[in-house]
Amino acid sequence: MKTGKPAESGQRRAVVLYVDDDRANLLAFRAIAEPTYEVVVARSGDEALQLIAQNADIAVLMADQRMPGMSGIDLCERVQASHPDIVRMLVTAYSDLTAAIAAINRGHVSRYLNKPWNAEELLATLLDAVERYRLKATVQELQVRIAQSERLYALGVLTASIGHELRTPLSIVSANVQFARKALGDAIKQPGTRQASVSLQEVDAALLDAEEGAQRLIDIADSILLSSRSEPGDREPVDLAHVLHSVLRLTRSEAIHRARLLIAQSAKPRIYGSATRVGQVLLNLVLNALQALPDRPIERNEVKLSLDERDGRAIVEVADNGVGIEPGNLSHIFDPFFTTKKKGTGLGLAISKQIVEEMGGQIHVESRPGQGTRFRISWPLLTT
Ligand SMILES: Nc1ncnc2c1ncn2[C@@H]1O[C@H](COP(=O)(O)OP(=O)(O)OP(=O)(O)O)[C@@H](O)[C@H]1O
Ligand SMILES: [Mg+2]
Repeated sequence: MKTGKPAESGQRRAVVLYVDDDRANLLAFRAIAEPTYEVVVARSGDEALQLIAQNADIAVLMADQRMPGMSGIDLCERVQASHPDIVRMLVTAYSDLTAAIAAINRGHVSRYLNKPWNAEELLATLLDAVERYRLKATVQELQVRIAQSERLYALGVLTASIGHELRTPLSIVSANVQFARKALGDAIKQPGTRQASVSLQEVDAALLDAEEGAQRLIDIADSILLSSRSEPGDREPVDLAHVLHSVLRLTRSEAIHRARLLIAQSAKPRIYGSATRVGQVLLNLVLNALQALPDRPIERNEVKLSLDERDGRAIVEVADNGVGIEPGNLSHIFDPFFTTKKKGTGLGLAISKQIVEEMGGQIHVESRPGQGTRFRISWPLLTT
């Protein structure tokens, strides 16, 4: 049954199906359409349905209205239900116009062609139908590709985020272990002296910090596993002051040569969420604040953390008097991979915002170039 020329290279195949019980009409249709299109023909609605079931490339259905058995409109209605992407058209005599218009209004048919059709009109109609079919198919393909690339992008962000979040505690563990080894070496060189006992106390403090960093790594790894199983996971009452102090301890070695770390605590708010995740957010903010400080005497560099509660919300602020953020960058700093740093990944704030919002909170920033930056997070207070 199938004849006609193949689709042009690079274009999706678009076969035209013509259905008519009149042999002469079928022949005439072939003669006109076949030089341009790949054509298949059927003598009845049932035969047309069979062809459609077998040929996935049928793009256009043109059916005569008056056929014994299934009418053209009935055929189009069934094809609309089974193959909605096929462009459906009706060939009618003037006496059937009302039925044809009703079929258009109900969406079964996209247009009709009056009988007898002439070659020019037929070719123009087919061209329009095939183009419409290809356009729709292209849009659908693009939608699928966009969805795929969005998924890939999300996966990329996720993978990089895991690396980003594990890196900070890992470097804390590593720095503390290195420091402990050095202090232990010092103690071994001067056994029994006062200096040796001071060094051993330093070893102990460094190992404690390393242990805390290691615990943080385990907690973060656990929370990643939990969220990959899409369980709500580690929700618990969180004492924000407690988390704040542990973050300060972990960033102490980073801060000690750069800035004065100040704490202003006017409340002891508790929220419902994950202490590990709150810790991740604060760690990112404090590290950013420290990294924003210019090279100048340490007394002039300040990072201030404050904790408060207001209007049923817990409020945490991390403010620095560093370089600030250019107004043009302010709307991008929460975008994944946006960074102005040579060695930044640009993920710290994107991750932080996601965590804050997952726990029902909001994060805002205010900044003045040359003067400093203030991040404010608020979460609903846990009152019971
Ligand atoms: N306290 C701040 N002061 C000035 N600029 C900031 C501050 N915090 C964030 N920024 C700006 O926002 C950008 C994005 O921060 P984000 O933490 O997401 O990534 P990053 O710090 O550049 O990289 P990473 O977190 O991987 O080290 C930074 O590159 C910087 O330009
Ligand atoms: Mg950062």
